[in-house]
Amino acid sequence: MEKIAVGMLGFGTVGAGVAQLLEEHKQELQHQVGADVFLKKALVRDLEKPRTGQVNLREDQLTLEADEVLGDPEIHTVIEVMGSVDQARKYITQALQEGKSVVTANKDLMALHGAELLKIAADNHCDLFYEASVAGGIPVLRGLTEGLASDRITKMMGIVNGTTNYVLTKMSQDDRPYQEVLLEAQELGFAESDPTADVEGLDAARKVAILANLGFSMNVELSDVTVEGITSITTDDLAYCRQMGYTLKLIGLAERKHGKVELAVQPMMLPNDHPLSSVQNEYNAVYIYGEAVGETMFYGPGAGALPTATAVVSDLVTSVRNMRLGVSGQHVGEPLNEKHIKPDSEVFSKYFLRLHVKDATGTFAALTSIFAEEDVSFERLVQWPVEGMVNTAEIVIITHTTSLDVYKRLQQALHSLDVVIDIKSSYRVEGGS
Ligand SMILES: NC(=O)c1ccc[n+]([C@@H]2O[C@H](COP(=O)([O-])OP(=O)(O)OC[C@H]3O[C@@H](n4cnc5c(N)ncnc54)[C@H](OP(=O)(O)O)[C@@H]3O)[C@@H](O)[C@H]2O)c1
Repeated sequence: MEKIAVGMLGFGTVGAGVAQLLEEHKQELQHQVGADVFLKKALVRDLEKPRTGQVNLREDQLTLEADEVLGDPEIHTVIEVMGSVDQARKYITQALQEGKSVVTANKDLMALHGAELLKIAADNHCDLFYEASVAGGIPVLRGLTEGLASDRITKMMGIVNGTTNYVLTKMSQDDRPYQEVLLEAQELGFAESDPTADVEGLDAARKVAILANLGFSMNVELSDVTVEGITSITTDDLAYCRQMGYTLKLIGLAERKHGKVELAVQPMMLPNDHPLSSVQNEYNAVYIYGEAVGETMFYGPGAGALPTATAVVSDLVTSVRNMRLGVSGQHVGEPLNEKHIKPDSEVFSKYFLRLHVKDATGTFAALTSIFAEEDVSFERLVQWPVEGMVNTAEIVIITHTTSLDVYKRLQQALHSLDVVIDIKSSYRVEGGS
């Protein structure tokens, strides 16, 4: 049987999972590609580091020299699982220019430089696949490019960051504060020691950019995604959501209407019967709406050695198959659609507002006149006294649908209103009652 050598840049969590799959699923992989795919060399930083994965590579399979992978003419596909942006970009560019196809799990890199790298791949007749960069083990990119290739995608909503979904699930279920749950997530390995990119929404934004590029065939950039994280969410907010029949999730949203797109990552209140509301803990899911297919949802583990490795090795299978068929690099084309980002006046939603106001005559009249001025009506309005705060009431409002520019003006007007002590929180509300 023909032997096909692959090289790997990185042999950490995902790399070890890839080596394990290549060994444990050898027979199935041989059947899939009609060749014996083997790992020839893996680049690491430290040869002495103890490696605890299921598969231990031989000493001669690990190297500190990138050229032993990138410059080896026998290596057909390079798997990049080392992370970082600059170094990985340099190595992937070099690999593609050497005529090697590349599989990467690197969302940071693909969100920032995906278009440039795909062009280099196409120019060199090589494949560049990156299924593992969005939602780990869930085959959502291939779902878009192959399974839904015949459809026109109008909306994608994803829980694409396991850390934040874990934190919000536990905060809501156990009524525990953000910091406490984050610490627990770090101890359990669901959050990094520096969780900033996750909790501030940047990791999810990278995935939204990648999804929108593929789903809308449009050169979307990371800076086109508006980003808000979960750090200011309180257990009070979550309690109100539960009372009102909603679930609060960090959602990556990409929506297209009349050729214009909205790209956002933000905490969003979803009705409890929304398919994404039931996605718990560290799990990921991507809900996709296509004009023809209607609603679909992809669900599964968004990270972890073996789930992520399944995505990487599946890309490898396609890359090797393409090589054997002589069609490497032929799937890549210029984006079909020009990028047009929706202005705030065309972004419509309902909003949840939690206000602390003076508990006095005239407060309601002042509030309602501000809403009336902007022509925004209430879907719900509830008032409670605030425990321990004399003369202060808490007002929770869900508005009817309004545009984002109007809502921003409304918030400004509320801030400057004498009877409003504080806007405690505000979230976008998706659909439902
Ligand atoms: N972990 C997940 O669940 C997951 C899920 C989806 C996507 N990803 C993506 O997959 C990629 C890898 O993640 P990971 O969790 O496997 O990372 P990791 O455990 O930190 O492993 C990184 C590997 O790359 C090597 N490496 C890093 N920088 C290097 C450099 N400059 N030169 C040579 N070798 C270098 C490290 O060498 P040493 O071993 O010698 O330190 C290590 O083997 C990242 O892009 C990540 O975003 C990960």
